[in-house]
Amino acid sequence: MPRAPALVLALALVACGSKKPTPTPMPTPAEMPPPVAAGTAPPAEERPGSDVLAASALAEQYEVGKEVYAKACASCHGDKGEGNPKNPAVVGDGALPENVTFPKAKLRKGVTFQTAKDVFDFIKKNMPLDKKGSLSDDEYLAVLAWDLNENKVVLDAKLTAANLATIKLR
Ligand code: HEC
Repeated sequence: MPRAPALVLALALVACGSKKPTPTPMPTPAEMPPPVAAGTAPPAEERPGSDVLAASALAEQYEVGKEVYAKACASCHGDKGEGNPKNPAVVGDGALPENVTFPKAKLRKGVTFQTAKDVFDFIKKNMPLDKKGSLSDDEYLAVLAWDLNENKVVLDAKLTAANLATIKLR
């Protein structure tokens, strides 16, 4: 079997290969976009700001508080917290007074409401009047956050055990 044609063919292939256009050079590391690992957080400018997160946590707490109020408090204090002769108002002008104004008050005698913590301690100990202390701390915080907001004590972050005492009622 003659070997020449095979050699010619091989040479032709090599020659052909060398005529291929030179490939564009690989980008150097400096030119490559930074690698993005799967599951890592997007750059800061694409993440919601911490104030946005705080606002949504607070909005959620108000919603929970509204539900807690409807279930555990409204039967006595009224649907809108307006009160009645047997139960003091918890929403509206004169609600959450620094010194008690409700004529039939017994439990609140001598208790001052200056900060959110004063109200929290009072409701956790005494409310709902017919089931004292029956809610979780988170539920007391939520119902209080809702009540403060209804009384125009506007919070800028979720009410917590840690910030209760820093929130002045007036
Ligand atoms: C069974 C009726 C009843 C229920 C339910 C009830 N309360 Fe009361 N609440 C009262 C009465 C009566 C007082 C007055 C107590 C006193 O000072 O002797 C009061 C007092 C208060 C006060 C103090 C108001 C003031 O001006 O002194 C707050 C705040 C309050 N309740 C919040 C709540 C919250 C929040 C809930 C639901 C978790 C709740 N209450 C459920 C009857 C009720």
